Amino acid sequence: MKIFLDTADLNEIRRAADAGLIDGITTNPSLVAKVAKGDVTDMYREICEAVDGPVSLEVVAITRDDMISEGKKLAAIHENAVVKVPLTEDGLKACRALRAEGIRVNVTLCFSVSQAHLAAKAGASFISPFVGRIDDVSGEGMQLIHQIRQVYDNYGFATEILAASIRHPMHVVEAMLIGADCCTIPSKVLWQLSKHPLTDKGLEAFLDDWNAAGTAI
Ligand code: G3P
Repeated sequence: MKIFLDTADLNEIRRAADAGLIDGITTNPSLVAKVAKGDVTDMYREICEAVDGPVSLEVVAITRDDMISEGKKLAAIHENAVVKVPLTEDGLKACRALRAEGIRVNVTLCFSVSQAHLAAKAGASFISPFVGRIDDVSGEGMQLIHQIRQVYDNYGFATEILAASIRHPMHVVEAMLIGADCCTIPSKVLWQLSKHPLTDKGLEAFLDDWNAAGTAI
């Protein structure tokens, strides 16, 4: 499964990219607002240059035509740019139009299998179902990933399932078991995935034994 980092923070991006652990980046207006003010074009370019993979940059327009012109500007920033549009009627229409121009599109804010089906029919390169936000309202976010996987496989849609709104390592594990194509995760969760108390305990014991014997390389 491809791992994307869900952040606009260049320090977090470089830390993960330097370890060769990420296949792409996703941003959204809230994440960008945490780290930037004013024109973010240069920051978007730097983010795109930091990884060898797709970088989702979200439109803030809400009408079809405005999304299309904003999407074209975002796509022109860098070849890694993928335009992110919301799963609305206008967003689906903008998705279709941008795809016709050869621009990759990530359709975001997906909360149902019927929405995901329409995004695939609109030619979305990625669909972003928000797992954590469904869990937040007592739903089962991972059930949606299951259903979308089944529908996309039933009909041979090429749209990649990008599990989003990931809150903890088990979300990532479940997304892998279901067969999501990608998962976008916050930096904190990425590093949590590498942790295990038995690894720390085992390493400590190895070093204690080694040092007690006075062994050397
Ligand atoms: O990038 C979209 C998404 O991952 C949002 O996550 O935690 O704000 O629900 P969250």
